[in-house]
Amino acid sequence: MQISINANRCEPSPMRKFHPYAVAAEAQGKKIYHLNIGQPDLPTPPAYYEAIRNFDEKTLAYDASPGNAGLIKAVQKYYKKLNVSLDPQDILITTGGSEALLLTCLSILDPYTEVIIPEPYYPNYTTFVHAAGGVIRALPTNPWEGYRYASRERIESLITKNTRAIMITNPGNPTGVVLSHEEMRMIADIAKEHDLFLICDEVYREFCYDDKFGVPTMAHFRDIDENLVIIDSVSKRFSACGARIGCVVTRNKELQSALLKFCQSRLSVATIDQIGATALYDVDHEFFQIAKDEYRRRRDTVVSKLRQIPGVVVEEPMGAFYVMASLPVDDTDKFQYWLLEQFSDRGDTVMFAPGAPFYETPGKGLNEVRIAYVLNQADLERAMDVLAKGIALYQHQVMKVKSHSVEA
Ligand SMILES: Cc1ncc(COP(=O)(O)O)c(C=O)c1O
Repeated sequence: MQISINANRCEPSPMRKFHPYAVAAEAQGKKIYHLNIGQPDLPTPPAYYEAIRNFDEKTLAYDASPGNAGLIKAVQKYYKKLNVSLDPQDILITTGGSEALLLTCLSILDPYTEVIIPEPYYPNYTTFVHAAGGVIRALPTNPWEGYRYASRERIESLITKNTRAIMITNPGNPTGVVLSHEEMRMIADIAKEHDLFLICDEVYREFCYDDKFGVPTMAHFRDIDENLVIIDSVSKRFSACGARIGCVVTRNKELQSALLKFCQSRLSVATIDQIGATALYDVDHEFFQIAKDEYRRRRDTVVSKLRQIPGVVVEEPMGAFYVMASLPVDDTDKFQYWLLEQFSDRGDTVMFAPGAPFYETPGKGLNEVRIAYVLNQADLERAMDVLAKGIALYQHQVMKVKSHSVEA
């Protein structure tokens, strides 16, 4: 028996590999501040639960393969409010943005074809691209340029005869980079000129902290209808990760047919979750404003705390709810194990996502971390203080740095 080459090219989720060590630390009585997973803590709108409580079909049947008709209508209406008009068949409901990404990769990639992705990127992209036999061509960025990647020269230099797509996350996870209108236009032009798919993961669309960005979407550029694939989800928008509802939006008919075959093979997305998600699309617009204001405050707290730690390099992220920072430690993976196994400050420690798995290029991101600011203000402040103490003690005990004064 043999495991497939594609499966062997995939990696375990870097965000989840510390779990057993976290369980062991908790068993020792440590309190862990979790900054490692993008699981929003804001309450899911009650409309979701009410809709599910009111569900009274006698049989829990499969729903339609392209998605529940009511949910598709709700998504269509949501896009209309963004000035994007879609036909119902332009929307295929999926089990989260995750399935939207997987089905898109399966639909457009052949073995050894290439996808250009700015790095650092959401690590599960590796799994989706590799599951389809594809290859990631990483577009390099760096912390001191605030991880910005929208350069025509840099992107075009990576295009080869095997390139099938450019894949971007806007606003970005892990970097929080938000593209300007001009940058979006330029990337759209490149996709069009080179006849490439443009996969635009917009699951954080509502989380832009400078009002000049509005609620950005590539779907406004009607001249790239054939190229554009939008990845969307209710997970972050409505603080409803467990609903597992997302969608692919594309006006490309050939791609719609390809995606639909995969949708049919998995029969249907969970019926009840689609009922709940439909109700989410009716929540008052104020919900987004409250969520955005809260995350903006948290971002400000994390960035100002990080800037007080000597040796940290951090740029203010403009969107999503993550900040990528370079820490003055040798290896953030090693540092994370140490924080869980060897360290606590008055019984507290902290978890983040080490930077290296967000990169395709070996050796990059070793001293970077992604911090998800998904805790309340007080917890965030405490978590950042614990992190600062952890860095100082680690430098002293493990890296044998002598210059900082350290309280053990
Ligand atoms: C950039 C990005 N895309 C897609 C997803 C998938 O989310 P879901 O499957 O919950 O919609 C995530 C989840 O963290 C993400 O960060």
